[in-house]
Amino acid sequence: MGAMSTFDGRARVLAVLGGHRPDRLPLWLMRQAGRFLPEYRAVRADVPFLDVVRSPALCTEVALQPLRRFDLDATIVFSDILVIPDALGAGLSFEKRDGPKIERPLVTDAAVDALDWHNVCDRLDYVYAAVRELRAAAPSHALFGFAGSPWTLFCYLTQGQGGGEFASARAALWAHPERSRRVLDQLADVVAEHLVRQARAGADVVQVFDTWGGLLPAADYAAIAAPGLRRITARLRAEGIPSILYVRAGAHLVDLTRGLGFTGLSVDSTVDLASISDLPTQGNLDNTRLLGGRESVAEGVARIGAALGGRRNHIMNLGHGILPSTPPDAVSWLVDEVRKIQ
Ligand code: CP3
Repeated sequence: MGAMSTFDGRARVLAVLGGHRPDRLPLWLMRQAGRFLPEYRAVRADVPFLDVVRSPALCTEVALQPLRRFDLDATIVFSDILVIPDALGAGLSFEKRDGPKIERPLVTDAAVDALDWHNVCDRLDYVYAAVRELRAAAPSHALFGFAGSPWTLFCYLTQGQGGGEFASARAALWAHPERSRRVLDQLADVVAEHLVRQARAGADVVQVFDTWGGLLPAADYAAIAAPGLRRITARLRAEGIPSILYVRAGAHLVDLTRGLGFTGLSVDSTVDLASISDLPTQGNLDNTRLLGGRESVAEGVARIGAALGGRRNHIMNLGHGILPSTPPDAVSWLVDEVRKIQ
């Protein structure tokens, strides 16, 4: 059928998520708008990160930068998972070298009580404005909205300064179980609302980033992280919004996460792709391969092609965000190599 030639990036991604066969595997990269591009660094030379995030025009500009250079199939709204803690009033700053910092971490009942849960998403209107602007500017690309998972947001909110294994956030689960449960439940409702509003603003699909989910053993993930994720997918399904769950270092959680109601799973490079065939997948390519020259990119892509066998319900992506030291040429090689999978 001639329809094969009418696939654009948006149709390719939606085909994968809808259970149809695309003409070829769609491709995008986590953090594709970011520091590996000189034109992004040029924008950031004059404007602090959070000011970019709060400006729909600048968000649109930096999201379009990778699309101008590379034949990618999707774009993701330029934002951050920490806009929710910010809107809750926990205080957010990005310091030069140390990454994000929450000014008032949830270390006491009083700090939890000080959070402002009322109409949180009304304070995130700049995100929905950025989605609307990007939707209009990139009509043939699949547009991803996103949010952090309740557990990953809890990690940052509780520990304050992101760090290593988030030991103090994990300890809070056992030391303050009731308080922790309450925060996780409330976060789930805000995350769901934030994702629904992004979809209403024009996002085709929403991705939940559970960057720190892999820190939890499977039984604790089932008890602590999974209930909120189920609430989120119930809401998204009721609204007909396709969704993807990304868990970093979550190979031990795949049997659990595949049953949480997400349309697809985004996996890092520790997961054996051949072990998931019943639902759409995304990711899996080791991001350091882009630092290893053309052959290492080709081999990584070929390995994913082999693990997929004949199935084509996969969105090519990295297992974690593109590293700032990645040479832009490596992304061109990746685009070429993905085209070779037939
Ligand atoms: O193209 C895109 O993917 C851009 C949109 C995006 C950003 N952050 C922009 C950003 C997305 C999807 C995120 C998600 C995010 N943010 C996650 C989950 C994904 C992951 O990486 O595991 C997490 C944990 C965060 C929190 C966060 N934001 C951290 C820990 C940091 C500092 C570390 C770092 O990489 O610099 C950020 C800053 C951040 N968010 C940058 C970008 C482009 C770098 C800011 C800069 O210096 O310009």
